[in-house]
Amino acid sequence: MRADAPEGSGRRPIRHRRGVAPGFQEENGARMNESDQTVVSPSRLPGLRGRAGTTLKRGMRRLFPGRSGPGPDVGHTPAVPPQPEAEAPPQVANPNPPEAGILTEEMLRLNGEAASAEGVVAAVHPQDFIYWFICRHPNLTLPAATSYYFSDGASSARKLDEIVSELGYPADGPVKLLEFASGYGCVTRHLKQNPRWDLTSCDIHREAIEFLEGPIGVRTLQSTSQPEQFAAPVAYDIVFALSFFSHMPRSSFGRWLKALYSTLKSPGYLIFTTHGVKSSVAFGITPEDIPADGFLFRANSEQDDLDTVEYGSTLSTPQFVIQELFRSVGAPIARFREAAWWGHQDLWVVKKVD
Ligand SMILES: C[S@@+](CC[C@H](N)C(=O)[O-])C[C@H]1O[C@@H](n2cnc3c(N)ncnc32)[C@H](O)[C@@H]1O
Repeated sequence: MRADAPEGSGRRPIRHRRGVAPGFQEENGARMNESDQTVVSPSRLPGLRGRAGTTLKRGMRRLFPGRSGPGPDVGHTPAVPPQPEAEAPPQVANPNPPEAGILTEEMLRLNGEAASAEGVVAAVHPQDFIYWFICRHPNLTLPAATSYYFSDGASSARKLDEIVSELGYPADGPVKLLEFASGYGCVTRHLKQNPRWDLTSCDIHREAIEFLEGPIGVRTLQSTSQPEQFAAPVAYDIVFALSFFSHMPRSSFGRWLKALYSTLKSPGYLIFTTHGVKSSVAFGITPEDIPADGFLFRANSEQDDLDTVEYGSTLSTPQFVIQELFRSVGAPIARFREAAWWGHQDLWVVKKVD
């Protein structure tokens, strides 16, 4: 429900004031600062669906989310700025998928420029779903898309840095950080530049792990499809899972919360995002359509190669997340910020206590 929407008579399964869900505690006297939220019209989000490819080879389909019916959102769906109306016709970033998923020379050049502006590694893996999703966005030119990929990763890394400072960790570190579900390093490359982090990045995709370990140059941990099999060799101050729970089915949502929570030191914090009420537009529904228990799962996503039983598109309201947290870890919620990421994903910070 939009914060400014008038009360209606429809089904309203959840009620909470904007920014703070009922029952949340705000630690250290810190109040949620609404001004630090990136509030962007969610009406932009449906436009972020993947475009259908044209004549993709079978093996390339997974690179292009639109081909096989993507989920309503790629987790990473940013609040992409609209092109100026005066510009017509809108240019398509990358109308022809490059052969065998290899980046074109133009992409490589633009990546180099955007990476150098951010002071990070330019290499992009040809199977980076997020990169392709952004590059094939119909409202973005290729220069705008490549620039967005790098600046958005930088923005997420900065946000994490700010949150961890709020939690009282020293700016000069070292803070032991597990970046869980890192993908192919959209955010990782920026985290790596910050000396505060003693960073380990982790994903289910073996190719991503190899890429992170190689060209991106960070320590890695191979994840597992079953949370109970996930074992970290050390404990972390912070576990950060950006746009991961926005894809988990009901059967593993709480189990992953428990698995990640158990890799934390005490004290330590699990920081994660979810598709929340504001993401309903991206799911093509209204908040009133959200099921009464606050959980909606669709068995499709931007990651075409993952089993849709284990990874789909998930909308979960605070009502559902609080219940899962209570059931799985019973830990205090240190922060909740509605729509704090990309203007629609909710931010959660859970404290590990003995
Ligand atoms: C939407 S992407 C987010 C990537 C990254 N956090 C970001 O925001 O740029 C979700 C990621 O979750 C990863 N993933 C899916 N299942 C996983 C699992 N069981 N363990 C670890 N990562 C997983 C996918 O490979 C994908 O990289």
